[in-house]
Amino acid sequence: METKTPRHSEAVIADIMMPHHANGLRPASVFGGVILSMMDRCAGLSAVRYAGGQATTLSIDKVLFKEPIRTGQLVEMRARVVHVGRTSMSIMVDVFAEDIATGRRRHTNECWLTFVRLDDEGRPCPVPALMLETPEDHRLHAIAARRREHALAEREKG
Ligand SMILES: CC(C)(COP(=O)(O)OP(=O)(O)OC[C@H]1O[C@@H](n2cnc3c(N)ncnc32)[C@H](O)[C@@H]1OP(=O)(O)O)[C@@H](O)C(=O)NCCC(=O)NCCS
Repeated sequence: METKTPRHSEAVIADIMMPHHANGLRPASVFGGVILSMMDRCAGLSAVRYAGGQATTLSIDKVLFKEPIRTGQLVEMRARVVHVGRTSMSIMVDVFAEDIATGRRRHTNECWLTFVRLDDEGRPCPVPALMLETPEDHRLHAIAARRREHALAEREKG
């Protein structure tokens, strides 16, 4: 069976937050839905890169907006696969906001998503096995395993 590491799945996207991304508050900050959409796209890129085929979003887990992101700032997202089942992939996305003029960079969010690999008929199909390389890989894998266990228990309850 094919094996990949979290490194194979790394995906990065970045965008400057423009006035049309704002939520209408003063001082202007970015609408949460813009960040969610970017997270989903970045995780999707990571999922397809890892799976080697198409994949769809199954869930976007709890997202905490710890600090506002201002318009004019550069948002960078970094995603990687941290746990896999047979057909599903748990993906963690880190979000950073940079004040471009000063270079000051903040870690504003992290988000966990689950994607499922799909075959050409749109049915779930197997993903490569995940090989963990670093202590950080093991730490994130353990967290994702606990999250998955909890989600599957909730699914059982209906
Ligand atoms: C993703 C989808 C194909 C899965 O369908 P399904 O009938 O649940 O398929 P399965 O039962 O085979 O489950 C597929 C995988 O998802 C996992 N899964 C399904 N429901 C889950 C849940 N509630 N929590 C955690 N994992 C879940 C399964 O454990 C399995 O993973 P595994 O093979 O690694 O164990 C289906 O839910 C779907 O098409 N959803 C819509 C996706 C979409 O439109 N996304 C965009 C949103 S706008």
